[in-house]
Amino acid sequence: MIAPLLFTWLQGADFYRALHREAVEMLPIGDGETWLDIGCGPGLVTRFAAERKYRAIGIDTDPQMVAAAKRIARHANSSADFQTGDFTTLPAESAQVVSAASLLAVLPDREAGLRSLWRLLHSGGTLLIIEPTNQMTSENAARAIQNGLPQKRVLGLRMWANARQGNIVHPSMYETLSTGSLRFLPLLQGLVGGWILQK
Ligand SMILES: C[S@@+](CC[C@H](N)C(=O)[O-])C[C@H]1O[C@@H](n2cnc3c(N)ncnc32)[C@H](O)[C@@H]1O
Repeated sequence: MIAPLLFTWLQGADFYRALHREAVEMLPIGDGETWLDIGCGPGLVTRFAAERKYRAIGIDTDPQMVAAAKRIARHANSSADFQTGDFTTLPAESAQVVSAASLLAVLPDREAGLRSLWRLLHSGGTLLIIEPTNQMTSENAARAIQNGLPQKRVLGLRMWANARQGNIVHPSMYETLSTGSLRFLPLLQGLVGGWILQK
């Protein structure tokens, strides 16, 4: 019960919304292609993907996250759809875009998780990963806040930095996939990264 409330609160923070919007905008505008947002939580990235004209579906194992995501999408008049489920059991090659924001870090086996995300993509599809970088420390978070981040729920950044400092997903893992190209975009003053991998 706490996790859906916490992530609904966090996804309402200005800094959190801005960095995820910027990451989604790294991808071209869609034309109804399927975008699976894995570990969607209350659905922020899924809604941004729907705004960008994809058939956006958020997947999460936690039914309360999915209930929160559906409620928020309804209020926001978003076409994003949500399903409860474990992404490792979804059919292969089911999407043109797969996103995973703050998912890999919480999985018991990150490398197996990355391979399962990759498996979901059509050939030529795009994987978008959003994760804190090794710059995500309490000190750097405090500095970013001092430098003038919008104040709404900025405490969430301190909490995020405390949770992730010293426990980030190492980006070298992404190079293990046979990828045509790998792009990196620093987000939130470099505390977070957006990685785009083309299958
Ligand atoms: C740290 S939260 C991130 C939520 C959201 N993506 C965000 O960035 O705010 C990770 C989410 O992944 C979900 N999750 C964990 N393992 C999963 C799995 N195997 N399949 C689908 N969702 C999973 C959790 O229930 C949780 O909602």
